[in-house]
Amino acid sequence: MATERTLSILKPDTIEKNKAGEALAIIEATGLRPVAARMVHLTRKQAEGFYYVHRERKFFGELVDFMTRGPVLVLVLEGDNAIARYREVMGATDPAKAAEGTIRKRLGANVGENACHGSDAPETAKFEIGYFFPGFEVG
Ligand code: CMP
Repeated sequence: MATERTLSILKPDTIEKNKAGEALAIIEATGLRPVAARMVHLTRKQAEGFYYVHRERKFFGELVDFMTRGPVLVLVLEGDNAIARYREVMGATDPAKAAEGTIRKRLGANVGENACHGSDAPETAKFEIGYFFPGFEVG
């Protein structure tokens, strides 16, 4: 299996609830390892740039409002099959549909305020890691 890196964001709702440690404990229990971290309060421009693929979606404004409402914890996670594994650990985008034990089931409120973000493919991971950690090696 290939060692991969993926980008994780613990979103403003998780930080507001003081649950970053709980989310990190779930992540670490799976064997995924943080190899870079940054706490940042995104500007609208940064959030819009990060989520530009969603710019035509009707929830885009709401997503940017939410992601800029407070600081986030941005992490690069490393491990075998990290991208797919972290998506499993996060659970479905809508916390109501997320499996037991996942971060979104434990900490998410709804499809907008869903506790965390993770890259969905190798190309996205490359873009997203570079967005927050310029020059950082992706794979
Ligand atoms: P994330 O994995 O960060 O990627 C895009 C985000 O858009 C997603 O998590 C959700 O937080 C958000 N999102 C997706 N669908 C909706 C929706 N219908 N309404 C509001 N936000 C949404």
